[in-house]
Amino acid sequence: MKILLLTALLLNLCFGSVVDDYLNSLKQEVLKENPNFTSFDASRGEKIFTSNHIGKKGKEISCTSCHGTDLNKSSENFFTGKVIEPLSPKANPKRFTDLAEIEKWIKRNFNDVYNREGTALEKGDVITYIINK
Ligand code: HEC
Repeated sequence: MKILLLTALLLNLCFGSVVDDYLNSLKQEVLKENPNFTSFDASRGEKIFTSNHIGKKGKEISCTSCHGTDLNKSSENFFTGKVIEPLSPKANPKRFTDLAEIEKWIKRNFNDVYNREGTALEKGDVITYIINK
């Protein structure tokens, strides 16, 4: 039991640092453009995550098209039907533990849905939404 708790604590610490560092670097970027900026906002992030747009392939999709609306459950890729493990780090401790992986997919997935890269503000808001789900 002690070992389990300790492992959970360690995982938490690791997860906390990668995503916190990333959010912090995004925040520095936003501050360059807007010195009055205070913090990322999960409700703006929810809109980014759930609203529909004509994506890269000319189809109307949202982030939920592939990741579902319950981020604690697995879902299916809209285009390939492949299973995608839950996006919430609460249900899937592997999430948000690898900076390169986060950046690669955020860039690719914004392009899928918005047909452009996300801004630092959008990325910070949507990640804040996801990690609090
Ligand atoms: C066309 C399907 C598709 C859409 C649409 C999509 N994603 Fe993804 N996403 C994936 C796949 C595939 C992966 C990589 C496989 C995996 O990690 O399970 C992924 C991975 C991610 C990750 C990586 C997390 C980690 O650390 O493991 C994040 C964050 C993410 N997506 C966010 C988003 C956001 C935000 C949107 C909307 C802007 C979005 N996704 C839209 C398919 C999609």
